[in-house]
Amino acid sequence: MSDQLSVLVLNGDAETNQQFEKLQDAQLTTANLNGDGWNETLRRHPLDILVVELNPKADIASSMARIERARADYPEMTIFVTSATKSPELIIAAMRSGAQEFLSKPISEGELNQAVDRCRRRKEATNGRSQSGRLISVFSKTGGVGVTTLAVNLGVALAQTGSNRAALVDLNLQHGDASSLLDLHPRYSIVDACEAGDQVDTDKLQSCMTPHGSGLSLLAEPAHPAASDEVSAHHVHSVLQQLTGIYPYVVVDMPHVFEPRVMAALDMSSTILLTTVATIPALRSARKVLQLFKELGFSHEKVKLVVNRVSRVDRIETKEITRTLDHEPFWTLPNNYLAAADALNTGQPLVSQKRLSNVAKSLLDMADVVSRVGVTGRR
Ligand SMILES: Nc1ncnc2c1ncn2[C@@H]1O[C@H](COP(=O)(O)OP(=O)(O)OP(=O)(O)O)[C@@H](O)[C@H]1O
Ligand SMILES: [Mg+2]
Repeated sequence: MSDQLSVLVLNGDAETNQQFEKLQDAQLTTANLNGDGWNETLRRHPLDILVVELNPKADIASSMARIERARADYPEMTIFVTSATKSPELIIAAMRSGAQEFLSKPISEGELNQAVDRCRRRKEATNGRSQSGRLISVFSKTGGVGVTTLAVNLGVALAQTGSNRAALVDLNLQHGDASSLLDLHPRYSIVDACEAGDQVDTDKLQSCMTPHGSGLSLLAEPAHPAASDEVSAHHVHSVLQQLTGIYPYVVVDMPHVFEPRVMAALDMSSTILLTTVATIPALRSARKVLQLFKELGFSHEKVKLVVNRVSRVDRIETKEITRTLDHEPFWTLPNNYLAAADALNTGQPLVSQKRLSNVAKSLLDMADVVSRVGVTGRR
């Protein structure tokens, strides 16, 4: 790649074109094309960056099909998608079709420059590891329902089965606390692993993992929340692809938002443990998430509902949850405040404690079942 980036903005409006015109060291072309002109244009202009603007009237399906074709024909070209709409469905569709960057409008200069910097640093060679390990995301749209507790304990339990190896990725890039639950003091984080470019280097990635006594390796949250901007959805994809090539199990502790990095991880996962508790707000939120997952084409097998903090005094019973969500819980975990608080304060995960509490036993059983659930592909 020469120092001058050649950039083509397709179907951008005046505002988008102006933003890209401000780029330093870039040779910009703009074009308005619908239909067959794409192939010819791309053949004539060897590009570093293709920017595809999805305007409100665009036929999304054919735009995605063209992006997919461009990705296949020009694998070294970086594809940006710009759009005024940033629905999770659109972000997923853009990433599945092969776009590396999704910029929502109005495009911020800072975000654009960062995306272009990542492109500049992109390594040409891709590491062709194929995914073999299981990728398990623990997710909830509501905070405080036990996502981190589940992810950490599942990670430790899976690390202790068979191969003695598992990885945990803390995707809470702003305020992750997995390291605290494991009483670890990581020297490196996911940001260090993503420093060199969009294609994460395997050796670098492995050197950024923090080992835990259980056999679990943690890819920790950044020490400074501001650094989280340096991690793109493409980085997350690359990190998870590499880790599943190395570890038999990779567990992801997810933040409670739908954004490109989260959507990338959810889409790649073989299992999503959608975590909830038996309260009306949490169940309402879980119902919306289940609906969205269905619309995204995630299978019933992929999405597993875990109800945490279940107790006899709950007003809402499990069978009512099944009826409300039209989804039978895969697992229920008992409420045990003392055990959970003890684990937090000692930095000893529930499943590693000498005297196992009811919740620890249940977590171990759950991990055992999760490890035996058949791998049914990515979706
Ligand atoms: N089964 C349980 N019984 C009692 N307390 C629990 C249980 N599971 C988790 N907790 C407690 O609930 C609180 C929230 O748990 P946790 O941090 O794992 O949730 P989270 O969804 O990751 O929250 P955040 O929004 O901070 O990411 C913690 O204090 C944890 O110890
Ligand atoms: Mg958490």
